[in-house]
Amino acid sequence: MAQPITEEAVPQNGDRNGEMQERNHFFRVISAFKSYKTFVNERVSRAKKSFHSLPEHHQQLLPDYLPHLENIRTCIDHNFEIIKLIVKHTDQMFENSNQYSSSDCENSGSFPKPVLTFDMDKVSTTLKQFVRDWSSEGREERDACYGPIIEEIQRRFPSHKCNTSNISVLVPGAGLGRLAYEIANLGYTCQGNEFSLYMLFASHFVLNKTPEVETFTLYPWISQFSNNKLMSNQIRPVRFPDVNPALLPSSASFSMVAGDFLEIYSEKERWDCVATSYFIDTAHNVLAYIENIYKILKPGGYWINLGPLLYHFDNLPKEMSIELGYDVVRRVITDMGFEFLREEPSVPSTYIQDRCSMLRYEYDCVFFVCQKPVHRLHDDIAESPESPPQESHQS
Ligand SMILES: C[S@@+](CC[C@H](N)C(=O)[O-])C[C@H]1O[C@@H](n2cnc3c(N)ncnc32)[C@H](O)[C@@H]1O
Repeated sequence: MAQPITEEAVPQNGDRNGEMQERNHFFRVISAFKSYKTFVNERVSRAKKSFHSLPEHHQQLLPDYLPHLENIRTCIDHNFEIIKLIVKHTDQMFENSNQYSSSDCENSGSFPKPVLTFDMDKVSTTLKQFVRDWSSEGREERDACYGPIIEEIQRRFPSHKCNTSNISVLVPGAGLGRLAYEIANLGYTCQGNEFSLYMLFASHFVLNKTPEVETFTLYPWISQFSNNKLMSNQIRPVRFPDVNPALLPSSASFSMVAGDFLEIYSEKERWDCVATSYFIDTAHNVLAYIENIYKILKPGGYWINLGPLLYHFDNLPKEMSIELGYDVVRRVITDMGFEFLREEPSVPSTYIQDRCSMLRYEYDCVFFVCQKPVHRLHDDIAESPESPPQESHQS
């Protein structure tokens, strides 16, 4: 049975300034997607120019190079077809529908020209995220990152001991939604939360617009001109999705909510479980995340986490960022009132890793399971005066 994936709008802060900012951001992201083809083709043109600058006898040694570049251009065209589908469906996205549409983008005059490399990197990362979350090729990566989290949820809330649909699980920083989808697929009531429009546009597309398994083909690695053992690795296709997201059991409850985790989730003692994968280091202030997770969990609720501490705002001079080692993060977690039930300090895993690349990043992640005690001793810490006002955004 096809299940529509519920979505809610990024909360509006009401004033005209805020609305303008949201509108501009929406257009900026649409504009980045729309600029993909031109931007990546420019990179290919640079490679072509370099080739033509080679001495004639060197060019003759590389008879397949120009055809390879033409193949890359064909792959860019294919990727752009997927991007057009992603953009096309953004207009119907949010329930409380934003009043602007992707087609207004060109007329808005509000997006930066030229599109910044920073924005194009986000588009490129979003395409790679389809591999991690929705392809057979990403299975190994998902097993390493999502597997331990899912197993732990099943261990803490076994289906033979509880009605899983009564167990509410929140997945903040849900990316393209696969972890949240898998949890819902097991019968739990699961909500993914995400604040990046790149991710939200792409997850909306894959979750709601997939007719069947492996309908779509992407060429996610075409921008990688280095570390290819085979030239053909660069133009390797990846089909997605490996499962049809529309085929959730009719009893499943799955929603995606747009917005900042710290702004949207302020209702106390709302969730049975919070599951975070590669998320806590996205914070300006990781203490605020820990504090909020503690606050929104029911007494006795669990926080399950797997990930590294690659602080996202590290090295961004204009951004506030507190970077703490795991030893300190761990101490703060206990100081805030959590009890550690399980902890594995060394779990190897990767993140949107091209398995054919000669360059390989492997994270030595921490995995832990914490419980908010049934009898709370630390509410004074969890309810600091800075806590945002209560606001419920349940679907
Ligand atoms: C490194 S990715 C991990 C995605 C996914 N959990 C996974 O394991 O593939 C972190 C995600 O958190 C999102 N994110 C960062 N800060 C957030 C916030 N304050 N509220 C909601 N989502 C956030 C980012 O947009 C990004 O998609």
